[in-house]
Amino acid sequence: MGDTPRVTLRLPNGETLELDVETARLGQDVIAIAPLLQHDVFAYDPGFLATASCQSAITYIDGEAGVLLHRGYPIEELAEHCSYLSVSYLLMHGELPDQARLDTYVDDILQRTPVRDNLKRIVQSFPQDAHPMSILGAALYGMAGLYHSEIDIQDETTRYHIACQMIAKMPTLVALCHRHNLGQELIEPQPEFGYVENFLYMLSGERPDPKLAEAVDKLLILHADHEQNASTATVRVCASSDTNPFAALASGIGSLWGPAHGGANEAVLNMLEEIGSVDSIEEYIERAADSSDPFRLMGFGHRVYKNFDPRALIIRGRCEEMLAMTGQADNGLFQLALRLAEIARQNDYFIERNLYPNVDFYSGIIMSALNLPKTMFPLIFALGRCAGWLSHWNEMIVQGYRISRPRQLYVGQERRSVPAQVGQPKRI
Ligand code: CMC
Repeated sequence: MGDTPRVTLRLPNGETLELDVETARLGQDVIAIAPLLQHDVFAYDPGFLATASCQSAITYIDGEAGVLLHRGYPIEELAEHCSYLSVSYLLMHGELPDQARLDTYVDDILQRTPVRDNLKRIVQSFPQDAHPMSILGAALYGMAGLYHSEIDIQDETTRYHIACQMIAKMPTLVALCHRHNLGQELIEPQPEFGYVENFLYMLSGERPDPKLAEAVDKLLILHADHEQNASTATVRVCASSDTNPFAALASGIGSLWGPAHGGANEAVLNMLEEIGSVDSIEEYIERAADSSDPFRLMGFGHRVYKNFDPRALIIRGRCEEMLAMTGQADNGLFQLALRLAEIARQNDYFIERNLYPNVDFYSGIIMSALNLPKTMFPLIFALGRCAGWLSHWNEMIVQGYRISRPRQLYVGQERRSVPAQVGQPKRI
């Protein structure tokens, strides 16, 4: 017997099984359950509440302590001292870039910001009022069509170029979706403005205040990665079939769009507008706490954070700065959000379930200060999260992987025969 810690499991058939415990560098250890397969029994964990689907060295979260580390660096320090592009480099490569590496990386990205006419036509083919997440997803599938045959995902240099291509084109595609929704032409990128300033310029046609660009840069850092969240896990599962990486990223868009994930920032603003005034807060808190009412406080709760979401604290501070900067210091929605958070935090239902404001609770307010419509908020999330998706995709390929293929607990009919009299379509 070696030093590997093990647990003993008694199986339904009475046999016992020794399972290895794999030790984490930080956080929970895991029980390696693959040997269950040889005993004709599986683990059952809907929603993956207690299942680690992979090993990863990118991001660590301590949900009890409200800690978020990227490659070991606390999110607070990264948001204070780094740019989004440095953080995206860190996530992918494991170390922060020195000046020379950063310069090369930034050049590799900025020169790729223009998009081909094919992609513009995909966007323009949508109805003007289509939700921009649907357009963005289609544009990423368009990327898969444009960049397919020459891609060898096992080649490290190719993966680097794919990542640069994606990080470069996302702001242009997001801006393209926005301009299409407005019924306006795409503004061609101006790479010399830099990554975030160019993005804001492509949205509005005006070169932004550098402080505004800095606030958006921080917002992107706060969204850059969050370990095995639904969209990142989706990208990994999708990519595990060796599919085109842009198609895998498009699947991430689909997952992110939902209101329980990246669509929550849009849903928070809808909710705040519906609540309308401080006087109505109690009524909505009561509804959220009523298990027979499907209403939930959007921007509250998290699968992993059971104390506070450190990103929400940073964003709340940034929100105040951003609103002051744009002359909206007395923004009614922000005041309403602050009061709502305060009242919810004193409510037994929220206290007992450890429900705190998450990253999406305040981020929509920053985005609305940019004069963006609510439907655009999940696209800003996607723009930031793109760095995480690419890093996890890259890590998975470097580590080696098998196709993701969960099993199930079957609860349907037992075997039976098709009846003699069964309806037939008029034509087949
Ligand atoms: N409002 C009211 N009750 C809530 C809320 C909420 N926002 N969130 C969780 N609960 C309750 C839930 O009803 C359950 O109660 P009970 O134990 O009585 O059945 C308990 O808290 C545990 O919640 P859960 O749904 O089992 O937790 P989960 O880990 O499956 O879901 C979540 C996490 C984020 C999907 C959920 O908290 C939620 O729907 N929040 C609102 C949407 C939101 O803000 N999403 C953004 C998440 S952060 C950024 C991101 O990942 O995109």
